Amino acid sequence: MDEVGRIFGDVGLGQFQLSLNRPVERGEYLTVDDEMNGHVLCQLDDLRRKSDLDLERADALGRGADTPIHENLIGIARIIGFHDSGGPVRVPTIPFRPGAKVFRADEGLIADVLGLKKHANSGAYVGLLRGHDLRIELDINTLFQRHMSVLAKTGGGKSYLLGVIVEELLRHKVTCVIIDPHGEYGSLRFAAEKNGHHQRFGVESQGFASRVLEFSPDVTLNTSAKPLTFSLRHLDPRDLLVFMGLTNVKNFLGPLKKLLEEVGASTPDYSVKDLIRAAERGEGALFETLHERLEYVDQTKLLAPQGTSLTELVVEGKASLVNLRGVAPDVQELVVARIATTLFENRKKQKIPPLFLVIEEAHNFAPQQGTAACSRILKNIASEGRKFGLGLCVVTQRAARIDKSVLSQCNTQLILQVTNPLDLKAIAQSIEGLTPGMTEMIQGLPVGTALVTGGGYHTPLFCEVRPRSTRHGGESVRVVPN
Ligand SMILES: Nc1ncnc2c1ncn2[C@@H]1O[C@H](COP(=O)(O)OP(=O)(O)OP(=O)(O)O)[C@@H](O)[C@H]1O
Ligand SMILES: [Mg+2]
Repeated sequence: MDEVGRIFGDVGLGQFQLSLNRPVERGEYLTVDDEMNGHVLCQLDDLRRKSDLDLERADALGRGADTPIHENLIGIARIIGFHDSGGPVRVPTIPFRPGAKVFRADEGLIADVLGLKKHANSGAYVGLLRGHDLRIELDINTLFQRHMSVLAKTGGGKSYLLGVIVEELLRHKVTCVIIDPHGEYGSLRFAAEKNGHHQRFGVESQGFASRVLEFSPDVTLNTSAKPLTFSLRHLDPRDLLVFMGLTNVKNFLGPLKKLLEEVGASTPDYSVKDLIRAAERGEGALFETLHERLEYVDQTKLLAPQGTSLTELVVEGKASLVNLRGVAPDVQELVVARIATTLFENRKKQKIPPLFLVIEEAHNFAPQQGTAACSRILKNIASEGRKFGLGLCVVTQRAARIDKSVLSQCNTQLILQVTNPLDLKAIAQSIEGLTPGMTEMIQGLPVGTALVTGGGYHTPLFCEVRPRSTRHGGESVRVVPN
């Protein structure tokens, strides 16, 4: 084995210092041959060069003096654990001895302790362990039961990685509904152009044209989508109040119910216009507000006598895209509120298959400050969805701006480069087992490398994201040609 250094100083149970006799990169896997537990897997979390060069001698060096410098490369390693005859991964309960040799870990040990060996039927292949030829497969059942988040700064590769995950969900015939504010995911229909990476990662180029459905409230702009509207008749008065932006349920529920009963009795297939006319006839300030808010609802064009049916929207084993490109932000919130509510209610009654609800730009739909029309239902799904087979995936470029209760319910996190200090703080607070070294590394992650936590793994892993089988729809726009 390749010896890289020796343990020195005070040795803890979670981490230790080592003097390195050859360069090892931060994040590399190491091992110590412990007398009690055999080979224990560790990871280099931090590195520092210690020297005896003081200020005075540094000045002298600057003036051209011949000054010998004694230096040591010092590492801090965190202990991951060892595998005890097929049982769970355990950590030593007695510290390693100072002076013990530290080696580079071989792939067999890494795969064994990290749990990377198995190709499970329920595995979503997202990429390779950084620097190794070991596949990282997220356990799809865990994603469902414990929810997930994809976090990175803008341009960090969130949508690309989410595309990888949706490809895997489709391959496993998992139903998903994707809230797509920028209309980026229609490209899942088309096979990617093959490049050298496809072979290295063992990925085929493949489109999912027959498995992608697309809906949009604006089919003039989004021509490949089917129109998305909601049936007025199927809306419960409380839900209609959400559309009307009226939160004062106590005051408005009674008059609105009366209005609906009255109109429903004379016109079974009533439209919003019929409701507006009836509200006009009503007297007093309450009806005036109802009238005004119904006019607003009419302008959103989201409600129709016969809306998109649930069986059309959710199809087992297919991905339904809700393309919101060009749709006003307030209307987007209403769409998300209605869809999320319908999915949740119908999952409770088991009228639709278990499904994964993906929310892109989730900080707009479940903000930490203020509320969106869909905030409450998304919080409910985050806390209770798992009981009913409704998995949630939130994607955001602003971890600090998404509702904390939603983020903390996401137990699988895929983190790409994040540099904003507030976002880093929010991430560090919502993830267990993130070391200060890892938080620092998140700031310097290259595009295409993600830190994976959860997903069936007991320790955070750095993952080189696999290339897409399908085309990526979120390419940056080039203003000036190269
Ligand atoms: N794993 C990857 N391999 C190769 N290229 C990638 C990878 N991830 C991202 N990219 C490229 O980086 C660019 C930005 O990626 P992406 O659109 O996924 O970013 P984003 O985080 O979703 O950004 P935004 O917040 O603006 O939506 C794209 O041009 C994409 O092709
Ligand atoms: Mg994106």
